Amino acid sequence: MITSVKGTRDLLPPETRVFTRVEAIAKDVFALYGYDEIRTPHLEQTELFVRSVGESSDIVHKEMYSFTTRGGQNVTLRPENTAGVARAYIEHGMAQSGFARKLYYVGAQFRYERPQEGRYREFRQIGAEALGPADPATDADLLVMLFDFLSRLGFAGLAVALNSVGTEACRPAYVEALRAYLAPHAGKLGEDDRRRLTQNPLRVLDTKDPALAELIAGAPRMLDLLDEESRAHHEELLGYLEAAGIPYRIEPRLVRGLDYYTRTVFEVTAGGLGAQDAILGGGRYDRLVSDLGGPKVAGIGFAIGEDRLVKAVPDEFRRAAIESVNAVALVALEKADRADALALAAELRRAGIAVDLDATGRGPGHGLKAAEKRGARVAVLLGGRERETGSVVVKELATRRQTIVPRTELAAALSEGRKGS
Ligand code: HAM
Repeated sequence: MITSVKGTRDLLPPETRVFTRVEAIAKDVFALYGYDEIRTPHLEQTELFVRSVGESSDIVHKEMYSFTTRGGQNVTLRPENTAGVARAYIEHGMAQSGFARKLYYVGAQFRYERPQEGRYREFRQIGAEALGPADPATDADLLVMLFDFLSRLGFAGLAVALNSVGTEACRPAYVEALRAYLAPHAGKLGEDDRRRLTQNPLRVLDTKDPALAELIAGAPRMLDLLDEESRAHHEELLGYLEAAGIPYRIEPRLVRGLDYYTRTVFEVTAGGLGAQDAILGGGRYDRLVSDLGGPKVAGIGFAIGEDRLVKAVPDEFRRAAIESVNAVALVALEKADRADALALAAELRRAGIAVDLDATGRGPGHGLKAAEKRGARVAVLLGGRERETGSVVVKELATRRQTIVPRTELAAALSEGRKGS
């Protein structure tokens, strides 16, 4: 038997209904904030991620699906989508329009991580990027949109963890302070963290080693070393978030695992997800576009891990999403009923009623059992007697209540039943 590749998974019904519903709401909400959809390729030049996500990140260091094509080009399955959006923005001259380009995406990303609950090698992200303005009101607007979306899924009590990682004007001094603080403890660091200490000490703050918690808690704070402009940006943002009622907490050691961030960084975690509790992360990246050879254009964005989000959505949302798709099971009792059942199905579908046709003709017992298995609420039975009388049997599967309905009234009766449920 050929199975799926390790770290990938099939999303099956009815779970796919929850994904579809989440995506539909994301698209509706993002459109309310002036965002348009972008779809970039899954495959990009490896160089793109090396120059954006950065060599000191775990992603580039050890998690990329990279290979050389038959034509000799080095390509990578995208591990994230911000770099691809920035590349497309430059390639298509989108900056020339002179105003903010607000773009969102929904799609698969690939990271060669150790698979575990909530962590996959192929996973999906729903993300948004605002390219252009560098002001803190743009940060606030993006976070307001994010919380608008999350609250429409029924989440309550989520707070954004927020920090500023400054800019090239103040970060080098911070990195040096951090290196000086960590260096005497290098012996306590594992292999990965020792590499991080030399390559980019900021990464050590992201350590997965619980034994280092105390050391990290005592580390210098970027917020204390921000230059005047970054501090003003941070404080102005906090003011807007308070005015908008967005719950946040300052997380002075939040640095995020990608190298392109400047100033604002944030994450949202949700309970009940175990170790992999970050449902989303994001931040500002005011140098990314110019570092990739584009114009001097700022940017900010986030990406939600859709697999984790779907796992964490409140039960009520999940139930409603699953029940929102509910076809009537139309059962042709015998083979002789097939043609008539096809005609009736067409009639009902024209009236906007979803029909799951069972034309196997294996009798009422089998038909009802199959309808139940497929999750139908109502079954319509059509047999020889019904054809003669121009009626059908309508059976509510939960209560087993049965009524005889003339075919001419069936569409109206089924629509009425749907409204009542
Ligand atoms: P990230 O923090 O690497 O940021 O990923 C964002 C989210 O994707 C995570 O919070 C998590 O929910 C989900 N995620 C990451 N890896 C996995 C995995 N292996 N399995 C399941 N879910 C996963 C970024 O990707 C940035 N591009 C975010 C961004 C957009 N920053 C600015 N704009």
